[in-house]
Amino acid sequence: MDRHLKTSSEKTALIWEPNNPNEEPKHISYKELHRNVCRFSNVLKSLGVKKGDRVCLYMPMIPELTVAVLSCARIGAIHSVVFAGFSAQALQDRINDSECKLIITADGSFRGEKVLNLKSIVDEAIQYCGSIEHCIMVERTKAEVNLVPDRDLLWCELMNESNDYCDATEMESEETLFILYTSGSTGKPKGVVHSIAGYMVGAEYSFRNVFQYQEGDVYWCTADIGWITGHSYVIYGPLLSGATTVMFEGVPSHPDYGRFWEIVDKHKVNIFYTAPTAIRALEAQGLDFVTPYKLDSLKVLGTVGEPINEEAWQWYHTHIGKEKCPIVDTWWQTETGGMMIAPLAGITKLKPTYATLPLPGVQPCLVDDKGNEIQGLNVEGNLCIKYPWPSMIRTTYGDHNRCKEVYFSAYPGKYFTGDGCKRDADGFYRITGRVDDVINVSGHRIGTAEVEDAINQHQEVVESAVVGFPHSIKGQGIYAFVILSKIEFNPNEICSQINELVKKHIGPIARPEKIQFVSGLPKTRSGKIIRRILRKIASGEINNFGDTSTLLDPEVVDLIVDSRNLTISK
Ligand code: WTA
Repeated sequence: MDRHLKTSSEKTALIWEPNNPNEEPKHISYKELHRNVCRFSNVLKSLGVKKGDRVCLYMPMIPELTVAVLSCARIGAIHSVVFAGFSAQALQDRINDSECKLIITADGSFRGEKVLNLKSIVDEAIQYCGSIEHCIMVERTKAEVNLVPDRDLLWCELMNESNDYCDATEMESEETLFILYTSGSTGKPKGVVHSIAGYMVGAEYSFRNVFQYQEGDVYWCTADIGWITGHSYVIYGPLLSGATTVMFEGVPSHPDYGRFWEIVDKHKVNIFYTAPTAIRALEAQGLDFVTPYKLDSLKVLGTVGEPINEEAWQWYHTHIGKEKCPIVDTWWQTETGGMMIAPLAGITKLKPTYATLPLPGVQPCLVDDKGNEIQGLNVEGNLCIKYPWPSMIRTTYGDHNRCKEVYFSAYPGKYFTGDGCKRDADGFYRITGRVDDVINVSGHRIGTAEVEDAINQHQEVVESAVVGFPHSIKGQGIYAFVILSKIEFNPNEICSQINELVKKHIGPIARPEKIQFVSGLPKTRSGKIIRRILRKIASGEINNFGDTSTLLDPEVVDLIVDSRNLTISK
């Protein structure tokens, strides 16, 4: 930001669009943002936050969140943003894993018609977080809150007392910029660590090149800052490039399904970046919500987070892009920090459902299950990256071995992404989805093990197995197979208790779409659950289970198929 002050201090850095369309948007210039960041940096310092300390942010999509992120960066503190839809338990786990000293939150958050009381969730979480010294609260909803003297402090009071000047702390390029927790195949979510220089180089380089950003463009990424897309492409990429970035507090359905397009027209958005799940949800509501809007400012469209289906791609291209805006389908991950395989808007030939070609410098390869690289065209395999790139994951917080194990041991010498991928006759890449035990629900990564752990907390649950199944809007839904200790329970009651448990341990986004009570699970003799079979059953394919001879009890498969009528949907 200091860099942009010289040339663009009056330029709008951030346009903030509130949840309620009748509330005034905010236009914050680079100068003003810089001033707020300096003030808040001084607040952090006055509370004893030093270089290397971890700060947890559990906040709504309000400008203070951007200020807090950048203030941590300014003083060399490590931010750990936790998506404000996660439960108290999930928040507590993340705070404790990286021993955060401070938490920044708001009284509450507006999400469409709903008001979430974030402060009470924080209160519940931090009872068990010995490392937390203070909680800073922004007043947004004016909900009634409990303020603990000395521990809890008000954002506005601290900012009023603070001053406008704060030097940026000098950092080594390889020091840590932030931690962001993400789900994997096993265990609890891990803290992906990104470095100062590499991450920022990756975020800015990919932002400018993939979107072909031009000075003066208004850019809007709809992601929440609680996810990597929000980090890299709401905050870091655009602000490093001196762009104007739109930040939206609300949801696409409020006050109606035309909200995105209303915002595009209102702020004359030139570059628009969203998730396929949002496109499918809006497409399902029909064109009546699109036609009232001109959408003539749009130049480039983007998608991220999950594979986009051909139908959604065509709808986006025809009705939003009016057949003139290139769509950049960008493949990347929390661990990659920035985009890896994506077209360069207006330069790379497009092919619907394909992320097309790697960015210059990125070298993907496909490998078979034995680890051999698959050469040539018209092939499919597990997606790996051969060489390092600037914004790659540096470690998993507090456990470097886990990082080596998860990403670098499946195929020695290569980074393994966890995704399956095709390479077509033109050498274009198409991501087919996760090949591990991660489910992608509406573009959000959820580990099957985490959901199973939550379900197994129910005292009548003996065992459970969770898989993904195709869902027309969300991309994938969560399907849980559950064994109960007795059969005489009321299944609906148990289902709602299971849903509550998942909500409590992870958050509402991880609640199973479908729960099927079964008497057994398909296991090998060594006790490993064969999820391949469960995934087939969950997606309605009840024939051709392949080789079931390794199963301890092959009959169990027929029993599960026969009891599908006992499945309860959300
Ligand atoms: C999936 C989100 C297909 C993929 C940036 C990846 C995609 C996971 C695409 C990472 C895309 C992301 N096409 N699949 N364009 N982009 N994915 O860490 O499975 O939340 O491994 O990062 O999302 O999710 P994460």
